[in-house]
Amino acid sequence: MGLRPFRSTAPSGCVALAVAAHSGVVPAICRTEPLSSRLENQLIIQEALCARLETLADRLALAVDAQHCLHLARSIYPILRRAHDFEERELFPLLRRQKGARADLSLTLDKLKFEHFEDEGSAEEVIQALIDFVCGGAAVDVESLRRRLQEFAQALRRHLAFERAVLLPRVLRIEEYGHA
Ligand SMILES: [Fe+2]
Repeated sequence: MGLRPFRSTAPSGCVALAVAAHSGVVPAICRTEPLSSRLENQLIIQEALCARLETLADRLALAVDAQHCLHLARSIYPILRRAHDFEERELFPLLRRQKGARADLSLTLDKLKFEHFEDEGSAEEVIQALIDFVCGGAAVDVESLRRRLQEFAQALRRHLAFERAVLLPRVLRIEEYGHA
């Protein structure tokens, strides 16, 4: 039996989840869902965050709604922290426990954990920059903020694309066959 395509495992609530994520609401994740669904949910939420930051970056020169900006800034850290907690406390240990898990997988998970640390550090800078933008008005270098938002979103997108391509198939195999 071949592997199931990723999308076939997406929970029916994924569209609603994506809509909620785009709105800036941090949706509650059901802990009884399969790990693959929870991973995919976390990826969708973070991808939506990237899209919102990229949209804001494109519109900085226009009139930006201050409340929207602050709301987006406030949502960044909880979204990342929730995803990182899930991966580091549940997902990564499960993958490391798999029989025959190779050293390169362990190194990969260490690298992903380090990227979480880096992303949270960058997030703090982005949050502060957005607050300064709202409060500082003309004193803020818009071009610099635009680059910072784009670079943060690009780095996060690379991380998410890797997890989608490498971790999600492993989790699906474990759920379907009992091992990766
Ligand atoms: Fe991650």
